Amino acid sequence: MTATTRMPLATAPGRFAGTVVIRGGRLVDPARGIDAVTDVAIRDGRVIDVGTVVDTSGVRVIDARGLVVAPGFVDLHAHLREPGFEYRETIATGTAAAVAGGFTSVCAMPNTEPATDSPAVVEFVRQAARREGSARVYVIGAITAGRKGKVLADMLELASAGVVAFSDDGDCVADPALMRHALAYSVAAGRPVVQHAEERALTTGAQMNEGSVSARLGLPGWPRQAEEVIVARDCELAALTGAHLHVAHVSAAGTLDFIRRARAKGTRVTAEVTPHHLTLTDDLVGGHWWSATASLPPYDTRTKVNPPLREAGDRDAMVSGLRDGTIDCIATDHAPHGTTDKHVEYAAAASGISNLETALGSVLALVHSGALGLVEVVAALTSRPAAVFRLEAGTLAPGAPGDVVIFDPDREWCVDPAQFASKGRNTPLAGHVLRGQVIATIVGGEVLHDRS
Ligand code: DOR
Repeated sequence: MTATTRMPLATAPGRFAGTVVIRGGRLVDPARGIDAVTDVAIRDGRVIDVGTVVDTSGVRVIDARGLVVAPGFVDLHAHLREPGFEYRETIATGTAAAVAGGFTSVCAMPNTEPATDSPAVVEFVRQAARREGSARVYVIGAITAGRKGKVLADMLELASAGVVAFSDDGDCVADPALMRHALAYSVAAGRPVVQHAEERALTTGAQMNEGSVSARLGLPGWPRQAEEVIVARDCELAALTGAHLHVAHVSAAGTLDFIRRARAKGTRVTAEVTPHHLTLTDDLVGGHWWSATASLPPYDTRTKVNPPLREAGDRDAMVSGLRDGTIDCIATDHAPHGTTDKHVEYAAAASGISNLETALGSVLALVHSGALGLVEVVAALTSRPAAVFRLEAGTLAPGAPGDVVIFDPDREWCVDPAQFASKGRNTPLAGHVLRGQVIATIVGGEVLHDRS
């Protein structure tokens, strides 16, 4: 085999009707404890071999020397907005954003219009994803009819229709009796319940984290306890029912104590954290200079997110929680919004950050600072989320789907939301230089994103 030179990976995305060999990259496959320079081969959409491929005649070779090769990232929490909010995102643009960010599997949250509370809507999303999607789309079904928190959706029917989990995300299931029943049904359905933990009695009118920054800015504060009390309650209800509770977007340090305590008693609780709660703090709401030319003015609505950005102690606790396993995985909570949702005063603005395309660069800052290892971060984006929802993803073992991300952990790039594949341009990172960029994303052997 002669040495290959770096070439564009594909002139256009599309299936290569043969074997694809990703050559010479640093393969990081935490599910199998692999961190080594080696090759990956894919045929008919699946991994066929790992190790040095000697005979490359008739195969397409992708030169990954100097780059990291990993299983495609798995996002348990994305808002694709379709049906109903296509001005914010569609399944086509949301999954294009996913592959641009290295994600090959995304789980679509049900806060659409209509909500994903019936097999018909599940089927709509699945068909649209098959027709127009780049990444693989898994559907999360609503817990309650219309996500109104009054009566349960038909969770068993939704499970038969193929949902991978249940959630009313965007809203908390407030009624403890309803939550108890949802958890009980989830056992029969064999799927986890994903709780958006927010005690609304404590957050009505709140705009940002409650602390010294909210006091200085004069914005009503959102206490950590709003999250903690719901997690404490739901851990007890999960113990009562024997269900699997998954806590969405953990933001408060105290939440981790409740999760640890529940696990110590044998309760099945898993949790995710977003890139922004791992890396940003509520100081941003008071304004921030990313560089001499890029800044966020005070009260910029791009900093508004639910749950809110917390303080440094919480952020550091999220990093430790991910390191010690209290938090299972990183999930983006990709929440694209239109300009009319965000170009309003802070109190009226929608919450959310368009996250899929900056997630890797954001969390690699923790690797560059030494707070986390590269293998830990890759695990939190691949094998660990796949295990939480039991998805066939997150490893490049022979026979696994040929879903791969190739990234340069050191390449620096400036976040320019105008270049996003997502319709959502709402990120507080605009103008910030991130270190670490996705070079190519392969789904089922097809190169669907190529920045080489
Ligand atoms: O900031 C958020 N935006 N948090 C959520 O829980 C929902 C999401 C959305 O749908 O916009």
